[in-house]
Amino acid sequence: MIERKIYRGKVEDVLPSFPNCFADLVVADPPFNKSKKYDNYDDNLEEETYLNLSEIWIREGFRILKSTGTFWMYCPTQWLGDFQVIGKRYGIWQNTICWHYTNPTPQQKRFPKTWSAWLFFSKSQNFKFFPKFEKSIESFHTNRQIGTKEGSGIYDVWSDISKLTGGYLAQREVVLKPNTNQRMFVYQLPLALLRRIIGFCTEKEDLVVDLFSHSGTTSIAAQLMGRNWIAIEQSELYCKEIEKRISKMSFGILKND
Ligand SMILES: C[S@@+](CC[C@H](N)C(=O)[O-])C[C@H]1O[C@@H](n2cnc3c(N)ncnc32)[C@H](O)[C@@H]1O
Repeated sequence: MIERKIYRGKVEDVLPSFPNCFADLVVADPPFNKSKKYDNYDDNLEEETYLNLSEIWIREGFRILKSTGTFWMYCPTQWLGDFQVIGKRYGIWQNTICWHYTNPTPQQKRFPKTWSAWLFFSKSQNFKFFPKFEKSIESFHTNRQIGTKEGSGIYDVWSDISKLTGGYLAQREVVLKPNTNQRMFVYQLPLALLRRIIGFCTEKEDLVVDLFSHSGTTSIAAQLMGRNWIAIEQSELYCKEIEKRISKMSFGILKND
């Protein structure tokens, strides 16, 4: 099953039709049940319903992984404990990455948030990991040169990748609504983040499955890196926009308007 294809539908309906053990990397950036505005999704479920649904895509995500595969889940700190507990029922926890973005999310009655987590799981202990994929030039934490022949120098706190933003500060990769500087996809993740995950955990031609595709960033990063991909997204509007974004890729380059 080698594809570069978007599946429109709910992940809990689409995944059961996939075979066992065929993906090399599964990425999940689910809705966070925080009453956020999506195209056509109820982001305000009862907590129990939300966690039961999460268990379905986590269980199915591990099922479709090869034994050498890895599963990366993006989660705000609110769900970190829950996702970690559920993930450990089906896979082996490897790291909790702190993505420390520099632009904080303001909060009324608690500390402004400056990080989110990536839970990194494997299906077995014989999982793919390529420590030399990327080398950091200088460590933020130890203030000494690293990235030697022995290791990558990338630690579990990633503070070198900013969140994407709209408005006049919008980065080039941000997809904007036509003739505005407003973001088309509010939850679009930076390509650099996915490039790092894909590069450390897969090889060329491997298959990357994105369970909640939204802007298609994961699939685009995968294609730019010569990987195969499957994107799942329940919104028709987002699926069309992903197709448009993918069609702008040519010769390994993503052209943005
Ligand atoms: C947080 S966004 C993902 C952002 C993505 N990583 C990116 O960089 O663009 C979550 C996406 O999941 C989709 N979604 C919500 N529930 C879903 C479900 N049950 N099955 C498939 N997609 C779903 C939403 O429409 C939304 O586009």
